[in-house]
Amino acid sequence: MKTLPMIARALILFAAMAVVAGPAHAQSEPFKVYDTRPVITEGPYLIASGERTATIVWFTDTPSHAKVRYGPGNDLSAEAEPQVDGLVPVGTRHVVHLEDLAPGTTYSYEVVATRVVKLNAYWPDKGLDVRSGPHHFTTFDRESPSVSFSIVTDTHEDTGRINDLNQAIDWESTEFLVHGGDAFHWIDTEEHLFRAWLRPTTAALAHSKSLFFVRGNHELRGPFARRLLDYVPTPEGRFYYARDAGPVHLIVLDTGEDKPDDTNVYAELNLTGPYRAEELAWFQDHVKTEPRVSEAPFRVILMHDPQWGWLADGPGAWIETANEAGVDLVISGHRHRFAYTPPGPDVDHSYHLLVIGQDQVGKVDATADELRVVVTDLDGKVVHTLVIPRG
Ligand SMILES: [Fe+2]
Repeated sequence: MKTLPMIARALILFAAMAVVAGPAHAQSEPFKVYDTRPVITEGPYLIASGERTATIVWFTDTPSHAKVRYGPGNDLSAEAEPQVDGLVPVGTRHVVHLEDLAPGTTYSYEVVATRVVKLNAYWPDKGLDVRSGPHHFTTFDRESPSVSFSIVTDTHEDTGRINDLNQAIDWESTEFLVHGGDAFHWIDTEEHLFRAWLRPTTAALAHSKSLFFVRGNHELRGPFARRLLDYVPTPEGRFYYARDAGPVHLIVLDTGEDKPDDTNVYAELNLTGPYRAEELAWFQDHVKTEPRVSEAPFRVILMHDPQWGWLADGPGAWIETANEAGVDLVISGHRHRFAYTPPGPDVDHSYHLLVIGQDQVGKVDATADELRVVVTDLDGKVVHTLVIPRG
């Protein structure tokens, strides 16, 4: 009769040892690898690249883990593999931020996604990998004597318009593309996000030219609005940041909503007031502490609403900050029609203010001596030419 408790005690001890030691496999036993590969469903595309950074994004149909092989010229010997809190992300959205790149350098890259069939605690079941590349991109360089980029805006889910704009863009001389916001009426789902905007837009960028997204007021709306940054991620983790591209110091701002937070249609779910206050603090600090703001030949702000969006106290502090920083040009959209307001005694801003219309392309060409913007319509007809000499 005394043997039963002893057996029970032995079983408990064995179970405890098993928990400590993990499953009774040899440590060297291989994990299972099934003969199955993920499919790349979107991308890779590049977001808001810089002089030393590049953000590469792509999607797969099944959960996978990801890395990027890259290097200058045709070299692919460096690897960047993301981790979050010590774990390699497993999912269908893949984001790799490349860091410590050399300015003004053309890199090759190849994205790799390896399928994870079952995410067991021990010996997860894996699959094979899928690759895309090699593709190429060139980092920005503040020492470069010139930079050229194109801007389109307010495409509002019209994929015909996006395709027409893509046809109208001079890609040969466009180093990166800016979308000035309101790509949507509101954002419903991931598929909606790709179908109505990112898929046709990134197709034209051919895995090599970077997309700069300026958030519009319509991007704060809809059930998927809270996920948008996952699809246009920046190393800063926010919609406002700065880059140096040749002679231009670029400041991308988020003008938030155009309606007050307490507007009933938002049912108390908007809190842009404190968000914009944080952004203003960043903007004020940036223009004070970043030497390039005074040293670059030109300062250009990219933002959606030419009136700076809804602000409880009005845009005075923003305009003052831009004026004091010597901002040369603000390029915006929102109004769907072209407008140009020069600086002068009749306005409160000392920058040139351009509003790009809905079916227009703004082409910016900057040298150390001159900032030139030519706005054309879909037929290539010139709507406006603005030339700003170095001050
Ligand atoms: Fe807008």
